[in-house]
Amino acid sequence: MELAPTLTGHTVQNRVRAAGINPHHWYPVAWSSQLRRGKVLPVQVWGQAIALFRDDQGQVHALEDACPHKGVALHKGEVQGQNLTCPYHGWQFAPDGRCVAIPYFPPEQKLPCVQARRYPVQDQYGMVWVFPGDGEQAPTVPLPSVPEYDDPQWLRVAIPGQFNAHFSICNENTMDVFHGFLHRNLQGWFNPKLLQLRQSDTLVEADYQVSYQGWLSQFLGMGRRGDRITTRTISIQYRYPHYANSLEGVSKMYLMRLPVSPTETRSFTLLFLKIRLPQTLTKMIRPLLSRVIWRFLFKPFLDQDVEMVESEQQTYHNNPQRHYIEVNPAIIALQRVMLNQAHGAGFHPALPYPSLDATPSVAIPSR
Ligand code: FES
Ligand SMILES: [Fe+2]
Repeated sequence: MELAPTLTGHTVQNRVRAAGINPHHWYPVAWSSQLRRGKVLPVQVWGQAIALFRDDQGQVHALEDACPHKGVALHKGEVQGQNLTCPYHGWQFAPDGRCVAIPYFPPEQKLPCVQARRYPVQDQYGMVWVFPGDGEQAPTVPLPSVPEYDDPQWLRVAIPGQFNAHFSICNENTMDVFHGFLHRNLQGWFNPKLLQLRQSDTLVEADYQVSYQGWLSQFLGMGRRGDRITTRTISIQYRYPHYANSLEGVSKMYLMRLPVSPTETRSFTLLFLKIRLPQTLTKMIRPLLSRVIWRFLFKPFLDQDVEMVESEQQTYHNNPQRHYIEVNPAIIALQRVMLNQAHGAGFHPALPYPSLDATPSVAIPSR
């Protein structure tokens, strides 16, 4: 559905701040490099504690982080071959969660029929992904596609993000290009215009026009001279529950969202830049260049966003009844998708909510 890109005021739907997740999707829970062979890592998806482990063959597995014997956290245990052993009484669990050994049982004794919950898991694009919903649906749900991942024309920068805030606040920050003001001292963008907006039950696509000026835009190849203004289109696509965006001819970004709990969210971002350097040179210095770009160019932006997002969360927490005004229809559309997905998954009652066409309470002319 095409929506008019007119900036008008709408009351923010506070219940999106209390929305649950649709668990029938793949969520990234760790960078692959964090989980070496024989290691166990505790992770969490929307309150579900999961013990991730990589067996001695390099395969990744995910089990509920609670031993079926007495509930001790399995991530405190150790990997033995393909199995995960609980630290308390040494019960051993196979990758499918079945208990396959109890060290103090005589060999002829039958094992109790217990099984830790197993989660479908994938190791792709340098991330470990878990499917926290109905495991039967997992094979039918694709991971986001990242075609640039192994393409040597692009420089890949991996960016971790951590926010003490509900995922809806973080998602709105990613969809919102009208906060260039916050980043003005970092030579961010300015003069944004919403050009086009499309929405379906699972998708919001917004095209914005934005202007850049300064050494950062010059470094990114947007103009020969940093003092000139360059205007580009940035397309942001939110396909529940993750993002992809593309800045015309300059960069592609995939931001994968992990809702850890109602007040904690993480992001796993892959940024791809077309840096114009000789191929052989970039190959040699690629990892170093990625880290420098992340640390000195993009982390300062993220730090500013984290402060805003966490401040928003804190104020919501102090008074969840208070109403706010949103003027960007892309964000209203985003809220609809998040609510639809939460309701569709049956985690919250399907509350009625105002239509996007509702009479605006404040009207702000688009420029
Ligand atoms: S609690 Fe895990 S083996 Fe006893
Ligand atoms: Fe930002």
